[in-house]
Amino acid sequence: MYKSAKIIRKEFLDYFSTELNHKIIPSSSVIPWCDSSVAFINAGMNQLKGIFLGKEEAPGGRLVNCQKCIRVGGKHNDLKDVGLDTYHHTFFEMLGNWSFGSYSKEEACRYAWRALTELYGINRSINLFVTYFGGDQEMQIAPDLETRDVWRNIGLPDDKIRACGAKDNFWEMDLTGPCGPCTEIHFDAAGSGNNLTELWNIVFIDHQRLTDGGVVPLGRQFIDTGMGLERLVALLQNKNSNYDTDLFQPLFQAIHKSSGAPEYAGKFGDQATLDTAYRVLADHARMVTVALSDGSIPDKNQKLRRVLRRATSLAIDTFGNNDLLTELTNHVAESLGDVYPEIQDNLKKIQVITNYEKELLISQRKSTGEAWKTLLKMNPRLSTINDPYSPGIIKAYTKLMKLKSKSSNFVALSGKEAFKIYDSHGLDLEAIKELAEVEGIKVDDEGFFKEMEMVRITSRAGKQTNRRVVAKKTLEQLKVLPQTDDSFKYQYAFDDKYTFSPLECSIIGVVIDGELETKSIKLTENQLNNSEIALILNQTPFYASEGGQLSDQGIIKLKNSLFKVSVVEKSEGYVLHYGTFDSPVEVNNKNKKVTAKIDSERRVNLMMHHTATHLLNAGLRKIFPAVAQRISVVTPLDLIFRFSTFGKKFSPQHCQELDSLVNKCINQNLDVKTEGISSLELMNQKNLTLIPGEVYPDTGLRVVDVDGELKSREACCGTHVHNTGVLKNFCITEVHPKSSHDYLIKAVTGPQAKNAKTKTQLNYLVDVKGKNDKKEIIIDFMKSEIERAVEKSDGCVIHCMKSNDIEPESVPLQLAYNYCDNLPMFLIVMSKKKIRARCFVPKEFQSTYFNAKLWMESINKVLPVELGTFGDEDPLSTSHIKIVRTSKDKIENQAEEAAAEAEKFAALYFKKLKIKKNN
Ligand code: ALA
Repeated sequence: MYKSAKIIRKEFLDYFSTELNHKIIPSSSVIPWCDSSVAFINAGMNQLKGIFLGKEEAPGGRLVNCQKCIRVGGKHNDLKDVGLDTYHHTFFEMLGNWSFGSYSKEEACRYAWRALTELYGINRSINLFVTYFGGDQEMQIAPDLETRDVWRNIGLPDDKIRACGAKDNFWEMDLTGPCGPCTEIHFDAAGSGNNLTELWNIVFIDHQRLTDGGVVPLGRQFIDTGMGLERLVALLQNKNSNYDTDLFQPLFQAIHKSSGAPEYAGKFGDQATLDTAYRVLADHARMVTVALSDGSIPDKNQKLRRVLRRATSLAIDTFGNNDLLTELTNHVAESLGDVYPEIQDNLKKIQVITNYEKELLISQRKSTGEAWKTLLKMNPRLSTINDPYSPGIIKAYTKLMKLKSKSSNFVALSGKEAFKIYDSHGLDLEAIKELAEVEGIKVDDEGFFKEMEMVRITSRAGKQTNRRVVAKKTLEQLKVLPQTDDSFKYQYAFDDKYTFSPLECSIIGVVIDGELETKSIKLTENQLNNSEIALILNQTPFYASEGGQLSDQGIIKLKNSLFKVSVVEKSEGYVLHYGTFDSPVEVNNKNKKVTAKIDSERRVNLMMHHTATHLLNAGLRKIFPAVAQRISVVTPLDLIFRFSTFGKKFSPQHCQELDSLVNKCINQNLDVKTEGISSLELMNQKNLTLIPGEVYPDTGLRVVDVDGELKSREACCGTHVHNTGVLKNFCITEVHPKSSHDYLIKAVTGPQAKNAKTKTQLNYLVDVKGKNDKKEIIIDFMKSEIERAVEKSDGCVIHCMKSNDIEPESVPLQLAYNYCDNLPMFLIVMSKKKIRARCFVPKEFQSTYFNAKLWMESINKVLPVELGTFGDEDPLSTSHIKIVRTSKDKIENQAEEAAAEAEKFAALYFKKLKIKKNN
């Protein structure tokens, strides 16, 4: 009898939940929000990691689920095999059951055996084989004979029971994490035992792999099982390939219909290019849809970007339909949406992003295409590169060649150098490795990740103006102390105004210039004046800078002196209060009891701006289908919020709408509710706002909830006001477009917001709250000119705008790149007697030979005037010449000559511009 994938999935869950009393837990998000050790959730047990490691309580002794999994990196990386065989996928579903002390090996094996042979009716005596762990000397773990005997008792003959080593039968979550011996049930269609396909993996988690490579026992044993749904479905539907099941066939039909390509024929091997493309595209469409629906974004996850770009390239090149990937997301939603409703809920967002990435790829192809072809001619081996249009690939290759030319025997790229290429050119490690391989260079992966982690820690700390990095050495020393209880930061009362009670605490350590002192210490005059001093308390009411919110300030009162706290920093659970003593002091047993008091005014302002940030974020999500938060900084004076809208413009009208949405919420006097949330709960939340790329702490997290004109539910460890009414007013004071799809907003709240004005570079000349038609006309003029030029362009936009009525100085050229789809752009504006020019080169196109400064210099012989950049602009990215006054009869010629020079320069150093035949 034919069973659909839906029925097979449901039967598994029913069998364990109804017959065997397991609790069904939902599939978690595929994004490991609280775990930086994996790129994506790669097994059903990931969301339970904290329970295995004893950090969290299990939600029940017996659990079952069907988990969305992605395997594209780390220990379990299936990416390179996808499409080439019948069963490797980037995205797949894993059926699994778990026991937390409720049953052990024997029941686990029997449950699985019964499911396969009775529930699904697989022929036990012919097709099924099992393996067990045969022991490992290096890890000093004995063979698992108990499991061998369980299979014997179940009735399997010895020729169907095989022992395997650690490579096959010691399962590990990734390079670190819970692990243990496993037993696997395999299927062999012929029954000979020569062609085994793994079906079900039953893991006895009883060890943990540490970062230093060591494996240590957990002291307890848990059952963790997993069976790939796609493989089971193929088997039960009597198919040779997962792709022939009802999980993939509808996608193939959609590809065929939309592209007109010949139908999928199920062929494999060298001659099966089209069928392989079908398989890869369908597989990748499922992965991309699921990853985006759960909140990942391409520029925060290089693996996702790679898969997305590969799918987009196939859609364009093999199937000739630029919009095919976006269309396929509808079919994935249809196939999986009833099991994972979040896919349907986020479909619009998913499609905005796939569409945006498609546009990006197309424009990068236009601009990088010619340059790549030239490189390819010079070095045909580069044809092995997967995505020659990756941003930064040309510059990365040039850099690599430069390094190579410096030494006669350059065969290894250090992690640091590889990271530098990644960091400055935006190329992911896989692509760097591909380039390096072409040149016979090996890349130090491990060193790369170490460097990345280092930079992550330092840059996080550096993001805020008053943050400092706690030295590793200091952190090691701190480990002798108990971690600081800082839960008091959330304790405050409101009665007309906020009050924060002073807290009695004890000094348990003093850090002087990075060195910890836990005994009595007399601070010398010199130390008082010249050293960096931080106090460690057993408990504290101070908020350490975290989640974008700047730290509290205040005082710590000792018996005979006062410590003024200026910055508070938290690292690995230790809160360090940096500041200065007002008089010479000896910290000893007699005066270690102290009173800590925060500066309430600063704190209230921080709380107000933090709550306003959440409202702003919710407002953006209401206005735009896809928004990604990039940076948030909450200060006592204002809030700074940088975000991306994936190609959708943020207009002055949006700005007004946002402003008014937040003010409505304030006028509604809505309660701001906070409650604690565990990492397990966090992984299962469907309507929670999380920041792409952020790794959240696995303890101490809260959800901040506002429900009114705007619905805001954000994971956050910041401090907030208790009611939106406290904010009184809100005003967006500045909006800066940062690139073609990225904006930075500054806003204020409280009394200062009442009279604040909006100064936005978005409309530069248009006061959002006033009106000035003339200025809107100028912006419209510039916008339409650029859009026209972009349409005509072939990689670079070079354009001269002419108007007798608009003076060049009134055209806001600094906003022009907003409309140019991230292409290099050279703009000249001229009126009757004046000329002005500005050019912009996106980072990914800059090189030693081609950048904004050199480009602008190229017209210097026609217009010999001083060139420069404004304020903090990067001269390689933007450059301009000031107004040039010239005579009426010369101006036309000069502008044309300047444009021609700019074009010549681009043709020489950037690309060969196509010379249109009729020109
Ligand atoms: N966690 C085990 C696996 O993924 C069951 O195979």
